[in-house]
Amino acid sequence: MADRRSTKAKKKKKAPSLTSRRSSHQRRRKSPLLAKNARNGAPGASRGKQFLSDKVGHFTESVIREMTRQAMLYGAVNLAQGFPDFSAPAEIKQAAQQAVAADVNQYAITWGAKNLRNAIARQMGVRQGITVDPEKEITVCCGSTEAMISTLLAACNAGDEVVIFEPFYENYGPDSVLSGAKPKFVKLRPPTIDGGEWTFDEKELRRSFDKHTKAIIVNTPNNPTGKVLTRAELELIRDLCVEFDVLAITDEIYEHILYDGTEHISLVTLDGMRERTVTINGMSKTYSVTGWRVGWAVAPEKITNAIRKVHDFLTVGAPAPLQEAGAVALSLPPEYYAKLAEGYRVRRDHLMPSLTAAGFKCFRPRGAYYVMTDISAFGYKDDVSFAKYLVQEIGVATVPGSSFYRDPRDGARQVRFAFCKKPQTLDDAARRLAKLRVTARP
Ligand SMILES: Cc1ncc(COP(=O)(O)O)c(C=O)c1O
Repeated sequence: MADRRSTKAKKKKKAPSLTSRRSSHQRRRKSPLLAKNARNGAPGASRGKQFLSDKVGHFTESVIREMTRQAMLYGAVNLAQGFPDFSAPAEIKQAAQQAVAADVNQYAITWGAKNLRNAIARQMGVRQGITVDPEKEITVCCGSTEAMISTLLAACNAGDEVVIFEPFYENYGPDSVLSGAKPKFVKLRPPTIDGGEWTFDEKELRRSFDKHTKAIIVNTPNNPTGKVLTRAELELIRDLCVEFDVLAITDEIYEHILYDGTEHISLVTLDGMRERTVTINGMSKTYSVTGWRVGWAVAPEKITNAIRKVHDFLTVGAPAPLQEAGAVALSLPPEYYAKLAEGYRVRRDHLMPSLTAAGFKCFRPRGAYYVMTDISAFGYKDDVSFAKYLVQEIGVATVPGSSFYRDPRDGARQVRFAFCKKPQTLDDAARRLAKLRVTARP
C-alpha cells in the first residue's frame, strides 16, 4: 500500500545501477564521459545533478488507485475506487461503436468535437440557464482530471495560492503543486449528529483568502464526504471570490447523483460568477464510462484560450469516437438522470446498514457515490493499518481516510467506501464485513 513517505526515500532503494544497464553500443564507444557517468550514479541522478523535478517529491502515487491494485492482489471486493462494475447505457456504447465504424478515428479538433461542444452548451443552457458559446468557451479534455490540471496550469503562477476544502479528492493537492501553486486547506467538519451535515467555519474560509489567493476549488457534490453545498454556502464563497478577485474552479462530476431531495447548484449561476468560474464536468460518473476519458471545462473566452493552449500541448485531444458518443449521451432524456440517481440511492441504502451493523459509524452522503465512515470502534492504530487488515484479511478494499487530508492524522479515524457497484458486489462485501465484528483486533 502506498504510504505518505517522501518518494525520494523509496527511490533510493529501488534504483538499479546504471552500469548493469549499459548497452553493447555504449560499451563499444568507450566514451570516457559515459564511463564516468555510469560509475557515478543511479538513473535519477548524474554527477550530483538531479534528473527529477522537486515537485514530484511533494506527493505520492494515488492511494485510491493503489487500493484497486491491492484489491486485485488479495482477491478483495473493490469498494475503494469510484468506478461502476455494471454496464454503461446501451445507446452510448452503440454510438461509440458506430463512430469507430464510421472512421471517426483521427484527431478531433483539439478543443473538442463540435457535436459534443454543442451538446455541452445545450445542456448548460437547459440545466443551468447559462448561455455558453461552444466555439469559444468549451474545452474538451481527457477526463475532468485533465480539465482540472489544464485549468490550474493555465491560471497559476509560482507563489499563487489555491483554496481547497479538506477532506479533498486526492488529485487536487498534486495538481496545485504541479501548477506551481500552494494549496491552502479549509476543513470540512463531519456531522456531530446522526444524519447531520458536513460543515465549514465561515471565519476559517475567510482567513484562507488574501492577496495571494488565485483560485478556489469547489467540488459539489463532494468526494469523499457526499456533501452538497447549499445556496447559502455557495453565496459565501461567491462573496469572497468577488471581494478578493479570485477564480472559482468547480468540479461537478457528481452533478446528477443526488439524494434526499438535495439540489445541485452550479456556482457559475450565481450573480457575479459567470466571468470568474471554470465549470468542470465529464462523462465518467454520469454515464458509467470512467475508462473513456472524456471531460470538459467551460470558462469565459479569455480563460478558455489559456486552457486550450495547455490542453493542446498536454494531450492534443480526447478520444475522437468517444466524443461523438458523448454528444449522444448528453442528449439522453431527463428520465435517464432520474433513474441514475434513484439507482444510486438504492445502492447507498443497501450498503449503509451493513456498514453500521459491522461497527462503522456512517456519515450519510447527500450526493456522489461514497460513504465516509468513522472506524474508532475497531480500535486500530490508524486508518492505513485498518484498511490493510480489511483488504488482506477480510477481503474488502476501501480507501484510508488519510489520503483525503494534508495531515494524515486528520483522517486516521476514517475510511471511505464506494457503492457504485452491483447489488451482488455489495452483498458480497456485506458478508465479508460481517466477519469483522468477530475477528477485528486492535
Ligand atoms: C471529485 C472527482 N473529480 C474528478 C474525478 C475523475 O474524473 P474523470 O474520470 O472525469 O477524470 C473523480 C474520480 O473519482 C472525482 O471523484
